[in-house]
Amino acid sequence: MRNRKTVRTITIASGKGGVGKTNVVANLAIALRKMGKEVLILDADLGLSNVDILLHLAPRYNIQHVIRGEKRLKDVIVEGPHGIKVLPASSGVQELTHLDAFQRMRLLEEFEAYEEDIDVLLIDTSAGISENVAFFCVASREIVIVTNPEPTALTDAYALIKVLFTRYQEKEFRILVNSARNSADAKEVYRKLATAADRFLSVSLDYLGYLPYDKSVHEAVRAQRPFLDMYPDGAVSKALGEIASRFAEPAREDAKGGLQFFIGNLFSMTGEAR
Ligand SMILES: Nc1ncnc2c1ncn2[C@@H]1O[C@H](COP(=O)(O)OP(=O)(O)O)[C@@H](O)[C@H]1O
Ligand SMILES: [Mg+2]
Repeated sequence: MRNRKTVRTITIASGKGGVGKTNVVANLAIALRKMGKEVLILDADLGLSNVDILLHLAPRYNIQHVIRGEKRLKDVIVEGPHGIKVLPASSGVQELTHLDAFQRMRLLEEFEAYEEDIDVLLIDTSAGISENVAFFCVASREIVIVTNPEPTALTDAYALIKVLFTRYQEKEFRILVNSARNSADAKEVYRKLATAADRFLSVSLDYLGYLPYDKSVHEAVRAQRPFLDMYPDGAVSKALGEIASRFAEPAREDAKGGLQFFIGNLFSMTGEAR
């Protein structure tokens, strides 16, 4: 059995919508799977362009059914390309943030039963600073903020970081610059964000890497296939592979690691004793 504390829990968030979160999550999951990791995506985006659509999946149930005790976690999780696993939350996201003690216990038990299969939990979120996005950021061990080089995306990324810091005491963020022209362009985007954060917030922003703007991403989205599968030798796939390798190591063992901790954190955020 695997050491429970080695599960990496990573929330992918952004200030602005349409910057590439869902594409990052789906392709990162596949890249990690190809490195031999077991990956679970929690699709917590309430918006329209969800992981299931991007990967051409048709889930019948979502986490709501588990919360209500109608389905087991294993019956709700669907399998995607290369054996990645997807747990649709959809409308259940709202319910997840307002669980009663009994529902929490049931969910914890379900995750306990499931845990030994998972190395990495990736959480795809809605854009912006809604309560449920904060909820997942606080509960997970790592936060990746995706932005593109547009000034509006950058200001929104900053606003999200600011709220997560001032209201939720989050201090560590990793920045992924998507749709950049090249490495210099991406680093400049990161530098702008880091400079503002340095000046006004005491947070640490780590540069995770960048993905180039690549028309083949549109093609892959239209085909409902991961770009990593459709264009494995493309620039964007190579860049994604490099980013994935940074997540292939087990998590450092600390208080925020592990699925148990993730669920525990969710509970403590909603305010009631466990
Ligand atoms: N690196 C990229 N190069 C070109 N287009 C991209 C890239 N990343 C994302 N896109 C485009 O942006 C759209 C939105 O991406 P998506 O992952 O759904 O964003 P989000 O989940 O943040 O709303 C995609 O449909 C795709 O057409
Ligand atoms: Mg999305």
